[in-house]
Formats: sequence, structure tokens, C-alpha cells
Amino acid sequence: MTEVPAMVSDPHAEQRDAFLDRMLKSASGVFDIFSVYLGDRLGFYQALAQRGALTSTELAESTATHERYAREWLEQQTVAGILEVDDGAADGALRRFRLPPGHAEVLTDRESLNYLAPLTQLLVGATRPLDALLQAYRTGGGVPYVAYGADLCEGQASMNRTMFLQQLGHEWLPAIPDVHARLQSDPSAMVADIGCGAGWSSIGIAQAYPKVRVDGYDLDTPSVELARANAAAAGLSDRVHFHVRDASDPSLTGQYDLVTAFECVHDLSNPVGALRAMHALAREDGAVIIVDERVGDTFTPTGNEVEWMMYGWSVLHCLPVGMAEQPSAATGTVMRRATLRRYAQDAGFRDVEVLPIDNFFFRFYRLLP
Ligand SMILES: C[S@@+](CC[C@H](N)C(=O)[O-])C[C@H]1O[C@@H](n2cnc3c(N)ncnc32)[C@H](O)[C@@H]1O
Repeated sequence: MTEVPAMVSDPHAEQRDAFLDRMLKSASGVFDIFSVYLGDRLGFYQALAQRGALTSTELAESTATHERYAREWLEQQTVAGILEVDDGAADGALRRFRLPPGHAEVLTDRESLNYLAPLTQLLVGATRPLDALLQAYRTGGGVPYVAYGADLCEGQASMNRTMFLQQLGHEWLPAIPDVHARLQSDPSAMVADIGCGAGWSSIGIAQAYPKVRVDGYDLDTPSVELARANAAAAGLSDRVHFHVRDASDPSLTGQYDLVTAFECVHDLSNPVGALRAMHALAREDGAVIIVDERVGDTFTPTGNEVEWMMYGWSVLHCLPVGMAEQPSAATGTVMRRATLRRYAQDAGFRDVEVLPIDNFFFRFYRLLP
């Protein structure tokens, strides 16, 4: 009698199936991001938040869009679990779709710290120059910031806006007693905000401290134009000014009581040059504060709780923008404490102190002269 050989089980089957499952969940996440981007940009969520349950015809009419597209999007959002439908069995054009209140806060409430719609704009922006990105990976070149377009710039600005307006001048700076006192005192304190983007950090400081004057500096002209418009809309054009300047330009001059850089040092091709300029811009008794990502101190295979996101930004955007100008420090989003300390010491600072300010994504550094 011949023996039937036992079935050899695939030793990798469990791992393969778990990975398949993960990839399918990721695909669902990508559809969430891109379809939420559509709903946000087209004003669909705002209409649903303001008007309650809507049919596809009502949504299309109130947003100047095409009914067939609106219907497909409403159905897709419902199947994805983002919207709810009042009567799923009704005829297609008669179904009413609603945005649940908890989802409405995340998708439409610009003043909420839970507002996350801009994340979709930022992610879509980060994927725009994919062909140039592939080329950069092959050649070692970079992708200029401008290639990422308005979505990247606006998404970045809107992601940080609420924190800058609500927390920067009301929680973060008050946690640095000497800086807080100086910003409140006479004569008016002067603040330089390096890599200011669309200006919300400069505006947040000026709103919280009515005496201060702020100069925001950024190399990207569209960002500076947006910043000027934001300051004008906030009624701050007399105290907050924006300038198109390279942060590492050694001819930057001033006598500032506070010099800041929010989420930008890791993007700079010449971070040491920029820190040297920040050192020169600060008065002898001025403070230099850098806010950057709260990544771990060393590489670990799992990364800390924010590194999955920071590495994501890095492979798509921050490393390639940093490498668009050569020579480049090629930092990437995952700028660890020791890296910043090295840059600071090379720029002439004595040391770097990590400030005791709690934030999930950010770490606060004070550079000591
Ligand atoms: C990630 S964004 C941060 C913007 C803003 N600080 C914020 O937190 O929303 C980085 C900013 O650094 C600016 N930037 C990059 N290289 C620069 C340079 N050499 N000089 C000045 N700004 C620069 C970019 O234009 C961009 O606005």
C-alpha cells in the first residue's frame, strides 16, 4: 500500500493572510482619504452639516455640482461608514443622506482641535508630484516645494491653524515663563517666525500678545501671500508682516526677543545655516524656540507612536523638498533630538533644552546661546 503524503502546509500562510488583510484595509483607508478630500473641497460636508439630511439632487443643487456624481459619492460615503442614509430602500434619487454630528465636528468644524479634514488635503498634496518623486529617488535629486501645489500648502496651514490660534499663545508660550513675561511687557517685544508658511503661528502669537510685533519669513511666495491675506483678515496687518526670505540667508538682520520655527527645520536643505541666522536674529537675552516632530531618539523597528506618520510624510514630501537644493543636509521628517542638537551646536548654540510642554505630535526645543 502506498502512503498518501501529508499535505505540506505553507509556513508563511498566516503572515501572508494578515498582510493581505492589512493591504485591503489600507486600500479602504486610501479611498476614505481621497473621497473625504472630494467632499471637503466640493463643500458636500458643509452642506450636509448646515442643511441636515439631503437627497443627491438637493446636495448637487446646493453645491453647484452634478447630481449623478453627488449620488455616487453619497452612496460611497454611506457604504464607507462616513454618512448615514435615512431610508436605504427608497428609490436612488429620493434617499436622504446625513452627516452624523461626531463626524461633522471632525470634517467641518474649523475651530475644533479635532478638525481633521485638512489632513486629506495635505495627503493629496503630498502625492501630487509622484512622477518627479520617482525620478528623485532614482537620481538623488529633490522635488521643489512648489511642485506639491496649493493643496500641500493649504493643507499644512489648516492642519496647524487651530493649534496655533488656540494653544500656541494660550498654553505653549505661557509655559515658558521668561518668554511669556517678555511678550506681555513694554517696550513691544519683537518676534521672528521662520518658515512661517501661511502665517497662523505668527497670527496666533500676535492675537495672544496684543503688544508684540511679528515678522514671518518664508521662502515660498504663495505661502507668504496667503499669510498676508490671513493677517489682513484677522485685522493684524499693522503688527504682523511677512517676507519672502531664505531662512539660511546670512544677511537676515534684526534684534528679536523671540525667534521661532514651527515644523520646518527638518524641511530645510541647510538647517545649520538657518539656525545660525536664527542665532544672529535673537537679541542677547532673546529666546530661540524650535517646534518639531516628537520622534524617538533612535531608530527602532516599530518606531514610536508618531513615527508611522512622520516616516510617511518623509518618504513622500519632507525628504524630497529638503533635497531640492543641493548640497542638502537631507534630514527628513524624522529629525531626532541628537540631530537637532548637532545642528544647533554647529550653528553656534551652546546646547538644546527640551521644554516640558505636552503634545502628541510636537516636541518643543529651546536653543541655548
Ligand atoms: C511644513 S511647512 C511649515 C509651515 C508652518 N511653520 C506651519 O507649521 O504650518 C515648512 C515651511 O518651511 C518653508 N521653507 C522651506 N525651506 C525654506 C527656507 N530655506 N527658508 C524659509 N522657509 C523655508 C516652506 O516654504 C514651508 O512653508
